Amino acid sequence: MLAQTPPMGWNSWNTFGWEISQDLIKETADIWQEVGLKDAGYEYLVIDDCWAEKKRDKNGRLVPDPHKFPDGMKAVADYVHSKGLKFGMYSCAGTMTCGGYPSSLEHEFEDAKTFAEWGVDFLKYDYCYKPHNIPGHILYKRMSMALRNCGREILFSACNWGNDNAHEWMRASGAHMYRSTGDIQDNWESIKRLALSQWNKECYSGPYCYNDIDMLVVGMHGKGNVALGGCNDEEYKTHFSLWCMMNSPLMIGCDIRNMSDKTREILTNKEVIALNQDPEGRQSYSMEQWNNPDVKIYIKPMSDGTYGIGFFNMGDAPGEGSLQFWDMGLPSSSGYGFLLRDLWDHEDIGVFAENYTCKLEPHHCKILRAKLVKVNV
Ligand code: GLA
Repeated sequence: MLAQTPPMGWNSWNTFGWEISQDLIKETADIWQEVGLKDAGYEYLVIDDCWAEKKRDKNGRLVPDPHKFPDGMKAVADYVHSKGLKFGMYSCAGTMTCGGYPSSLEHEFEDAKTFAEWGVDFLKYDYCYKPHNIPGHILYKRMSMALRNCGREILFSACNWGNDNAHEWMRASGAHMYRSTGDIQDNWESIKRLALSQWNKECYSGPYCYNDIDMLVVGMHGKGNVALGGCNDEEYKTHFSLWCMMNSPLMIGCDIRNMSDKTREILTNKEVIALNQDPEGRQSYSMEQWNNPDVKIYIKPMSDGTYGIGFFNMGDAPGEGSLQFWDMGLPSSSGYGFLLRDLWDHEDIGVFAENYTCKLEPHHCKILRAKLVKVNV
């Protein structure tokens, strides 16, 4: 089964937009392992929109742009596979892709076959130019059926931006992940808006169909297609931690050929990624700091009996987060407390009974792993 845990990879859109080519894809594949992405669990290399010719060929098949991909898509897929990675592509459920290229409406089965022949392992499926009279769930089911019958295992990544209450029906349409938000931008306001828009939707995301809060902007620093302002490294840390705590797929959006050490450190933090990749895929539940609604607390039960705990200061003033273990169902009279480990500092910070409190600068977070231990009361 695909997508037992949230899919991880890289997508061309956030930085490169329509400026994609086989050289870019090959260079990205070449450096993947060296910069530690493979080891951290990233596996899907995905080409987004703007890869095709504006017209299908005389047999109705999609054709890659010969200037961008002169050797064709099979050659690109083979190259990506030769690096031990999986290869992803993009199409759309409407009459055209968002960028105005041919899309798969009424071509679902032949396109799925073409993707299978090229060696595609992942399909992102967008929602632009959707006919008004066909419900979205029919369009996603149709492509899902086509992919299930194309002779190759292809992960289906739906992208309808959460329209039409997608969270209620996407799992039943057969998608392995589904975009629940509009497009991310490389700035703090966008990260905050997207994350908070998913408040109380925890139950709609889990193994085999994860809620995709959009591709990461970590490390873009104001450069590229969706770069509108940029963020500082602490904000990128908070962004990455939110996506991990909320079980979002982790699709990198920066130029991995030119990452700073800090970007690399964020994207490959194995202790934080482990929260996202827990095999049980259980969602975090969330609560608000009682005296400061800007401070959000997420708690994620892990399969080994520990918990991921995230404190997030979404506001613009310094704040404090305080978690009463009572709110996790653990009264101090139980004689138990938690051994806490800081997953960004990579160190145990001690045993706490009853509660844990931390100070948080604006837009900062604290991410902990908590292990139940006996304490003296
Ligand atoms: C939509 C999607 C983006 C990207 C573009 C491509 O806006 O939400 O993620 O795929 O289309 O045109």
